[in-house]
This record gives sequence, C-alpha cells and structure tokens, in this order.
Amino acid sequence: MATMVNGQKRVGLAADRRHSFYGRDIVSVKQFSREDLTYIFGVANEMRSIVRRVGTTDLLKGYVLANLFYEPSTRTSSSFIAAMVRLGGSVIPIHGVQYSSVSKGESLPDTIRTLESYADVIVLRHPEVGASEVAARYASKPVISAGDGVGEHPTQGLLDLYTIYSELGTIDGLHVAMVGDLKNGRTVHSLARLLRLYDTTLTMVSPDILRLPEENKQELIAAGRTVHETDSVDDVIESADVLYVTRVQKERFADLREYEAVKDCYEITPALMARAKERMALMHPLPRVGEIHYDVDDDPRAAYFRQMENGMYIRMALLAAVLGKA
Ligand code: NCD
Repeated sequence: MATMVNGQKRVGLAADRRHSFYGRDIVSVKQFSREDLTYIFGVANEMRSIVRRVGTTDLLKGYVLANLFYEPSTRTSSSFIAAMVRLGGSVIPIHGVQYSSVSKGESLPDTIRTLESYADVIVLRHPEVGASEVAARYASKPVISAGDGVGEHPTQGLLDLYTIYSELGTIDGLHVAMVGDLKNGRTVHSLARLLRLYDTTLTMVSPDILRLPEENKQELIAAGRTVHETDSVDDVIESADVLYVTRVQKERFADLREYEAVKDCYEITPALMARAKERMALMHPLPRVGEIHYDVDDDPRAAYFRQMENGMYIRMALLAAVLGKA
C-alpha cells in the first residue's frame, strides 16, 4: 500500500514488486532482479499452500488465457492450463497450430492480435529465437514466453531456480553443474542467466560440440561467477550441490549423424549417484530420453518430479502477478 513520507508517495516493497510484474511481458529472465525472484517465489509458496489445502481459488475468475504452442509440449502447456484453471480462470488452448489459421499462412502478429481480442494474457511457445519478443511488441496484453527455439525458456528457468531453493534452502554458495546439450537447451540458458544473480560456482559439462554459447558464458563471468567447463560428469559428481541434466535436443540438429554421435553421452545411474553428496538435487527439465536411469527415480535426491510440480505453482504466481492479482 502507498504511504506518504515527507509529502512524497512511497510504495511498500511488496506493492513495488507487484508493479514490476503487473501488465508486463515475460520474455527473458534478464528482466528480473533478485528482489523480483524473492517476490515471485513467495507468491508461488502461497499458491502451493492454496492448492494443497483447497485445490483452487477464484483469484482469476473471469480471466482468459490463450495458450498458443507452435512446438510440442506436455509439461509447460498442461501446467499453464492447470495453473489458470486452479486460479478460477479459463483457457483457449491452441496446441496443434496445423489446425489453426497458422496453417493458412497467418503471420504471428495477426495471430497474436486475434487472440488478445479474446484473452487477457497470452502464453507462446515458438521455434524461432525472439518470437515472444516480437509477439510482445504487437500485443497490448501480457505475453509470457513458454520457450523460443534455442533462445530462452524463462518460466522454466524460474521454476528450476525455485526448485533449487525449495530443495536446498539456499542458492548462494552452491556448486551447480549443468550437463548435456548446453548449446541448444533453452532451459539451460535461462537458468544460467538467473544463477548469475547469486553467489554460485558453475561447471558446464558437455561434449565439445554442445558447449554453452559464448554469450551466456561471458554473462556469467561478467557477473563475477566462476565457470568451469569439462566433458566428464566424473569431474563434478562428488562436489555438485545441483546436477542439472538435460536432453540432447535432436530437433535442433541439421545433421542427424552429429546427433547420433552425442545422443548417449551421459547417463546418470545409481552407481554414479552413490558417489554424489548426500544432500544434493538431481534435476532435469524433462522429457528425459535416457540421461537419467529409471532406477534413480526413488533416490530422495531425484528432484525432477517435484521440479515439474513446482512449475504449476510458479506459473500460477506469474499469471496472478502479470494480471495484477498476486
Ligand atoms: C524443455 C523445453 O521445451 O525446452 N521442456 C520443458 O519445457 N520442460 C526441455 C526439453 O525439451 O528438453
């Protein structure tokens, strides 16, 4: 609530944070400060407790979300739908763009203009880097990126960071190892960008052709983070507090022979987990296609199913925040 201090309007911290989300697009994690993250994690905690206590609320009753997916998705699309429904709102789901006017050649700006005349907020997944920024430019309603090509996946980055915090109780001081396709993995790009805001040490584990893009690496270094690179999980398994494993992104390879050469480069097994810290978080944005052995699922450090559930709470928090109801 605003208070008057020396004749000047002063906005309290919570209200101040609300302003940084209300009516805003979410297209890159670059837009967030640590204070924004603390605020959104607090709202996500509240959403978790509402869902666990009563399942739903009518906070967004009467609001409509357009869920527009030009690429395949299970978790992101369904958790956005579940988030909106649990907040009492409704959803226009457009998942097979081949059945929409996109297949008649409609441009992204025209599709966005159409949907915003029916909906209050638009979630967009698109194969091209920067597509959500383009959409946001044309839309007067908030646009939330659900992943743009090999660029970013900001809501996944937020839920990943929230999971680290929920699992380990802190983010500062951690050694985070990211494993797999660091070049094409948009979740990696968003999470690495968020981790630069915290006192973390990072080790990037990948085959040579799938290394973290130089731009992301330089951002981490410029923020004062130490970044190690290796191609071997052996180098990190004993010291990592977080092991963030990713899928080799087959759909991004122009030459499938290159994919075949690296697709099975890492597999987290019970034998490997036996060497890891007792208190650590094994994470994966999912889907997995062989990187984490199913026998690891019962290990208490396997956090990927909790991570996936956290996605709904974070998305509930973001929807409520951009619509000014958090
Ligand atoms: C990720 C994505 O789409 O980038 N999936 C997700 O949203 N959880 C990761 C992936 O597809 O490998």
